[in-house]
This record gives sequence, C-alpha cells and structure tokens, in this order.
Amino acid sequence: MSSAAVIPDSISTAISGAAARDWHPQSWQSKAAIQQPSYPDQAALASALTELARLPPLVTSWEVNALKAQLAQAQSGKRFVLQGGDCAESFADCESGLIANRLKVLLQMSLVLVHGLQQPVLRIGRFAGQYAKPRSTDTETREGVTLPSYRGDLVNAPEFTAAARVPDPQRLLTAHARSAMTMNFVRGLIDGGFADLHHPEYWNLDWAQHSPLAGDYRQRVESIGASLRFMETLAGQTIGDFNRVDFYTAHEALLLAAEAAQTRQVPRQPGWYNLSTHFPWIGMRTAALDGAHVEYFRGIRNPIGVKVAPDMNAEWVQQLCEILNPQNEPGRLTLIHRMGAAKVEQYLPALIDAVRKKGHEVLWICDPMHGNTRALENGYKTRRFDDILREVELSFEIHAACGSRLGGVHLELTGEDVTECLGGARDLTEDDLHRAYRSAVDPRLNYEQALELALRIVSIKSAAGR
Ligand code: PEP
Ligand code: CO
Repeated sequence: MSSAAVIPDSISTAISGAAARDWHPQSWQSKAAIQQPSYPDQAALASALTELARLPPLVTSWEVNALKAQLAQAQSGKRFVLQGGDCAESFADCESGLIANRLKVLLQMSLVLVHGLQQPVLRIGRFAGQYAKPRSTDTETREGVTLPSYRGDLVNAPEFTAAARVPDPQRLLTAHARSAMTMNFVRGLIDGGFADLHHPEYWNLDWAQHSPLAGDYRQRVESIGASLRFMETLAGQTIGDFNRVDFYTAHEALLLAAEAAQTRQVPRQPGWYNLSTHFPWIGMRTAALDGAHVEYFRGIRNPIGVKVAPDMNAEWVQQLCEILNPQNEPGRLTLIHRMGAAKVEQYLPALIDAVRKKGHEVLWICDPMHGNTRALENGYKTRRFDDILREVELSFEIHAACGSRLGGVHLELTGEDVTECLGGARDLTEDDLHRAYRSAVDPRLNYEQALELALRIVSIKSAAGR
C-alpha cells in the first residue's frame, strides 16, 4: 500500500529548486507504489516519519557529488567499481566485528583489483541502510498459518510470529540510528588508517592463512608494498594520499516514505538530495516505468543505479534512461545487469545496443548474484561460485564484443567464514551449507570466495589483455 494519506505536512517540504519538472519528494504518491508495507498504526507512522525528516542526514551533498564525479570516471573507463555487502543488513548484525570484517574484505578485494587491473577502484558498500527487502509475496504461510512476509529489519522482524511480522514504524528510526553507527565506525576506521596501504598486514583475517589462495594474495600484497616503497624512494617522501581511501554507501531505496523523509535541499545547491545514502538503487521488482519508484528517483540529484533483469526489453531500458537521466549527465545512471550465467549471452547484447543506439551514456556494472540463485532440495537457497564467475567473465566478453565496457561488479558478500554459496577454492558442497548458513535472505560469498573472485577477475582481464 502507499502511505499517501499520512505523510505530515512538515515533510512535504516546499517545492523549490527541483531540477526535474513537476517533481517533489512526495510526488511518487500519485503513482502505484508496490512493495510497501501496510502499517496498522498510521499515527505512529506519521510521527516516526516526522522525526526521521528532522534527524541529521547520514551523508552530505558534497560526498554525493564527489561520488557522481568518480562514477563519471568509471563510465569513461578510468575506474573500476566494486560494490558489495550483505543482501540485507540486520539490526543484530550492527556489531563492530562484523562491520570491520566486511570492510576488510572489500578493501582487500579492492587492493587486488587496483593492483591487477592497474586502475583506481571505486568502493561502494551495500551497507549503512540496506535494511529493506522486496518480497515475491505479501504473505507467508507455514503449516496453515498465514502472516505478513518479512520485509527486512526496516519494516518487521523475521521470526514467524504474528507480533514479529507487524510493520513497526519505530524501526524506521532504529534503522537510521544503526546506519549512522555503521557509517560512523566505517569512517573512523578509514580515517584512522585501517585502509593504509603501508600496513596491509592489518588486513589479514586469521583463517585466510589456510586458504589455497593465500600464497597468491600474499604475493600481491608484497608486490604492492614494494611498489609503494619504490615510489616513495623516488619521490623522496611518504605518499600521503595512500593513507586514505574513499568509501561510499548504497542501498536499495525501497520504502519510499522513508527515503522521501530523508530527501533534503541543501544550501547553495539546486535540487533535492537523498541524504540517507550516497548511491540508492532501484531493484528489479520496482523498476516499472510508470511506478512510484521511478517517479521518486527521477527527481533526486544522487547518482543512482537500476537493476536490469532478463525480462526487461530494449524499450523499457531506453525509457528508464530517458526518464532517469534526460540530460545524459555523466555518472548519474548506472545500469546493474543481473541476468544469470545461463541467460546473459541471450539478453545482454540487445540491451547494450539499444542504450547506445539512443545515445544514452551510462555506466554498466554486473551483479552476478541475483540471476544465479537456486533453491536446493534440502531447503537452502544457494549460488554456485562457478556461475557467479562465469557471468562476470561472459559480461566482460559481451561488453567488449559490443564496443561497450563493463565498469564494475555488484556482489553480495560478507567478511565471515559462512557457508552459503557452493564451490570456490575450497569447493564447498551442499553438505557444507548447514555448517554456517547465516543469511536470512540471499546467500553471500564468504571471505575466501570474495577474495578469490577478485583474483579471478584480475586473471580474466589480464588474459583478455594479452
Ligand atoms: C538485491 O540486490 O538484493 C535484490 C533483491 O536484487 P534484484 O532487485 O536484482 O532482484
Ligand atoms: Co539479494
């Protein structure tokens, strides 16, 4: 349902300076808003949204603009994007060890990619706000009992009880607070030198030593250290810029009332910014051209992503580009294709051609996770490492053959030793899954599998360059 009736005046802010025509942060309410929860207590929802609209933002417009400029560089082939994190964050997982390990694996992967691709890597986390999930059905039935579906910690709780599944507006505020805590910790770690390339030894997770790929990884780290020392000797000074890396946040902007409450105007900048994240994206299920999500996204100034699925035809994708980036602004629009290894050859080339034919300038990145999900007979939802790798490999080839460029990857991963995806160097099998299957939603690459994927991307690219 749409919560149109309850949006308080205080957040239906005055319409001024909006770049898009006939748009304001609540204009989505005149369109069909799917995947929205049904809140039983509308007064409580209104009061939570009013408070959310008053709270300080999680990101600034300067950061959002800086990200857009870097995405523009990726679009012109000068950077590679690494976007990754959990399928869904949970309030319980807002915990120092988990956050630090996820940051570590993303930094380690980016180190491998920078070195192997000889290109700057743009790091974007699927975190600090990835709390809402689209669902295929509004309700879930178990043993004759039907309850509302779990829609992510932003909305309700996963336990299968009537009380847990009631959408609770208070969660909007908890999500804002947990996102702020996550962001604060990530910023602190990065500012404190956690990502310092001079100390790659800080990055090693204990059990990586047992990985069959540990040797390859260690060699790369040593080689990066040696290159850095060489450059510093040459320059006669420490290369300060290497102490810091940029890190940006992203989430699927699904719950439009919450996104709109965090959409603000800022001094001396035209238009409206979603200041809950740097890089919101539209999920596959909410990308209808006449839907509320596309309406909301067309008016914000952030760089944005849209998932592109096999059932989208050329015209649909062309129209998305037209509506979401009519000025062809560099860095504004990223198309994240998620076809599946078995379908990418059939569906992707026509879409790349269609976008180019209309003169739309976009950044293409590949999500090799969501088209490769399988349900096993033992009840687990999983993905095969080989399918994930294959989709990335094919995507590089297809873009090259179409005169386009694959500018990055979008992954579901964790820094923990979970057993959710099959295969990888340790060859996890179906019998291993029960050991550490922790995801409440989609299966994630574990630490080793994620690092292996980064190493394999480098091999694919160097083989193609030879
Ligand atoms: C996701 O990214 O978790 C997701 C649900 O993806 P998609 O919209 O591509 O299915
Ligand atoms: Co997912």
